[in-house]
Amino acid sequence: MLLMKGDVVAEDILSKVKKTIEEKKLSLKLTAILVGNDEASKIYVSSKKKDCEKCGIASEVIHLSEKTTEKELLDTIEKLNNDDSVTGILCQLPLPPHLNEDKVIDSISYKKDADCFHPYNVGKLFIGNPIVEPCTPKGVIKMLEYYNIELSGKNAVVIGRSNIVGKPASIMLLQKNATVTICHSKTKNISEITKQADIIVIAVGKPHFLKADMVKNGCVVVDVGIHRIEDKTLEKGYKIIGDADFEEISKKASAITPVPGGVGIMTRAILMQNILTLGLTYQGKN
Ligand SMILES: NC(=O)c1ccc[n+]([C@@H]2O[C@H](COP(=O)([O-])OP(=O)(O)OC[C@H]3O[C@@H](n4cnc5c(N)ncnc54)[C@H](OP(=O)(O)O)[C@@H]3O)[C@@H](O)[C@H]2O)c1
Repeated sequence: MLLMKGDVVAEDILSKVKKTIEEKKLSLKLTAILVGNDEASKIYVSSKKKDCEKCGIASEVIHLSEKTTEKELLDTIEKLNNDDSVTGILCQLPLPPHLNEDKVIDSISYKKDADCFHPYNVGKLFIGNPIVEPCTPKGVIKMLEYYNIELSGKNAVVIGRSNIVGKPASIMLLQKNATVTICHSKTKNISEITKQADIIVIAVGKPHFLKADMVKNGCVVVDVGIHRIEDKTLEKGYKIIGDADFEEISKKASAITPVPGGVGIMTRAILMQNILTLGLTYQGKN
């Protein structure tokens, strides 16, 4: 059984990004907007800042209050869109409920869309001509490629159809010539479908949703889920688990990603790659 660890692949991506930035003497900057005080969002933003430091990308965080109005947020984004020193912008989600996420995503210039959430970039991805690519699904594909998992002609099943993971992962697998089935909350007899899969990408947001009796021998499983589960037997009081029952499935699978240590770290590395791509494609060319 092959354990597809993300850290090795992510390090490889980060060092290539750093090398290109140094060789081409690029001056790149990520601006992250954080609205409110969500603890998980604060951690995500600070790890993105650390990744930027590793690669030689400048970064700043604009921390706005929980009560920020939509106009204030959109004005902030507009200023960043017009600031030539800013290469990439991201607005950490989720936003407080009074703010319209779609409107905010649309307001970030597609030329600075570090997360690849803007409809223009999603459209480019859909037609097979992407500039940047959404971080988590691209991380999934990069990981499969790094570990030489053949995708062409394989039966791939994606569980989950969110705009940030499931849907783009399906499109990317399709572009790699896999035969793709997408499952969601209304799918009937899901295990009959997953049992046919050569490759399963699971992004369902439910701890240990995928069980060993739902997969065939030799399948490849990429687990996108991340859950913090209370565990008083551990010093820190919790453990991190995925959407797949790693312990049982790893006895049947030919390859599987661990959680933690799998897709999560890949997501961060692809963000850095996207900032480099935006810089090379657009910076100084407006
Ligand atoms: N590793 C990373 O960097 C990373 C990045 C993003 C997300 N994540 C994790 O990945 C997981 C998924 O995230 P997400 O943002 O894609 O979640 P999401 O927006 O909540 O989407 C979950 C998807 O799962 C489907 N689903 C729910 N219950 C189901 C069921 N019983 N059977 C089949 N499908 C079902 C939903 O179907 P419907 O569309 O029908 O509702 C939906 O499409 C979460 O654990 C999240 O924390 C990790």
